[in-house]
Amino acid sequence: MALPASSSTSRALVLALFSLLLFSVQGQLSNNFYKKTCPNVQTIVRSVMTQAVAKEPRMGASILRLFFHDCFVQGCDASILLDDTSTFTGEKNAGPNANSVRGYEIIDAIKTQMEASCNATVSCADILALAARDGVNLLGGPTWNVPLGRRDSRTASQSAANANLPGPGSSLATLISIFGAKGFTAREMTALSGAHTIGQTRCQIFRSRIFNEANINSSFATLRQQTCPQTGSDNVLSPIDIQSPTTFDNAYYVNLMNQKGLFHSDQELFNGGSLDKQVKQYSNNGAVFAKDFAKAMVKMGNLSPLTGNNGEVRLSCRKTN
Ligand code: HEM
Ligand SMILES: *[C@@H]1O[C@H](CO)[C@@H](O)[C@H](O)[C@H]1NC(C)=O
Ligand SMILES: *[C@@H]1O[C@H](CO)[C@@H](O)[C@H](O)[C@H]1NC(C)=O
Repeated sequence: MALPASSSTSRALVLALFSLLLFSVQGQLSNNFYKKTCPNVQTIVRSVMTQAVAKEPRMGASILRLFFHDCFVQGCDASILLDDTSTFTGEKNAGPNANSVRGYEIIDAIKTQMEASCNATVSCADILALAARDGVNLLGGPTWNVPLGRRDSRTASQSAANANLPGPGSSLATLISIFGAKGFTAREMTALSGAHTIGQTRCQIFRSRIFNEANINSSFATLRQQTCPQTGSDNVLSPIDIQSPTTFDNAYYVNLMNQKGLFHSDQELFNGGSLDKQVKQYSNNGAVFAKDFAKAMVKMGNLSPLTGNNGEVRLSCRKTN
């Protein structure tokens, strides 16, 4: 584009456009962020995740949850990956994470390969966003483009992890409010909850539901009670989705319609309330669910990322540089 060099209006325009460009590069994520600096970023994540999920299908679920618990606390900044030290309290020992969130070694394995290919370039926060997407897809779920360019935090917040993450005893109103605080509609919250179509959970999380609640299928409750008694067996695992715990499908919603949600919070989505219709729709139409889930995951990945010169690219995901 040729511009008359003397025209100050044109120069002002060019300047304005240039700052707009700079601003958008610094302020948001982009699909091609590592195109020049680490072209194999997606291949590296995919290959480690493929091996990990082949070895243990549950790992796809565990990494997905790790990403959720990262993004809801200070944004998607890999804060959850920082280890506690004698002088630093991170998020790993917060109530919702301790003895529960897993998969940290898989992120380490991806990071090691990443450093070997393109050192000090790809953030742990971006690795987590890609790995969560691949975990879902490798278990039969949808795929989506993951905008990149997140940077890693130098801080973490145990108190925010305790405050911002929903618990299995949450009411529908609490779920709507916790997700609403992060900018999600009740519809998006319902789609994201479909993540519970994969993965496992400990007896202590759902014991009170299978012994005390009325809106549960009685043969389902009896089945779960066999490995989750009134006392003991706190850490014994059960699949969250009774039908297909290693397949990312819409069976979670079918379960809810049959009063086979394992967490109190899950069954809250189908208990005579405002989201019953949506649960029914997803139970009838897996494609609509898959599409809504993918869209909501991209939105979750956009929660307050550090970009530009904020934060850092950690060399080890477990500690700040
Ligand atoms: C709606 C509110 C939610 C509540 C109350 C909730 C709660 C829980 C609880 C209590 C567990 C089991 C923890 C344990 O047994 O140690 C769990 C597991 C899991 N959650 Fe959620 N969660 C919610 C939303 C989500 C979202 C939005 C995602 C991801 C998008 C997600 C992904 C998972 C996965 C994949 C597992 C299984 C993890 C594994 O097998 O390692 N959850 N969730
Ligand atoms: C990355 O690699 C270069 C070249 O091998 C090396 O000089 C540099 O110290 C490395 N950077 C880090 C942070 O490891
Ligand atoms: C509970 O689930 C079982 C097994 O799927 C089914 O046969 C039964 O009809 C259900 N019970 C009720 C009360 O819906």
